[in-house]
Amino acid sequence: MKVYFKLLLTLSIGISIISCGEKKETDAMEKPIEATEASNSGLSSEELGKELFEGKGICATCHKADIKTVGPSIKDIAKIYKEKVASIAEFINDKGEPLVDPSQYEIMKANFVITKAMSAEERKALEIYMMSFE
Ligand code: HEC
Repeated sequence: MKVYFKLLLTLSIGISIISCGEKKETDAMEKPIEATEASNSGLSSEELGKELFEGKGICATCHKADIKTVGPSIKDIAKIYKEKVASIAEFINDKGEPLVDPSQYEIMKANFVITKAMSAEERKALEIYMMSFE
């Protein structure tokens, strides 16, 4: 009986520690705060790219890392762009052809309003971030 009680106690402490570690501060949209409010200064290109991808670029709504949703997965895009030695920065500046899924190009094209308003550095950062997937 004593042993059983000890085991139960250990288990419940263990569980409370684990669930405590999972708590993250979130903003009104339930997103982790550090991901949405980091400033651009002092970030590496890849970090800036990630921030743009999930933030003002809204790319993350249609592109997930591994699975195709509205758009192709980031991994699929990176794979094809590596194979063809093509530039994502050029593509999102409306200076390229769709290489991944031309039949859905119109949906992607609508985002060029956002990406063409970005600086060349920001477009390059998006490219570096996406190409880091494999
Ligand atoms: C409304 C959904 C949507 C959003 C938002 C979106 N995309 Fe896409 N994207 C698509 C679809 C659909 C395709 C497939 C069509 C294509 O290949 O052009 C695509 C394709 C792409 C491709 C591959 C293009 C190729 O050569 O075929 C890249 C690169 C890309 N998106 C980058 C981005 C970036 C960067 C952003 C954010 C600035 C973004 N996308 C936001 C839907 C979206």
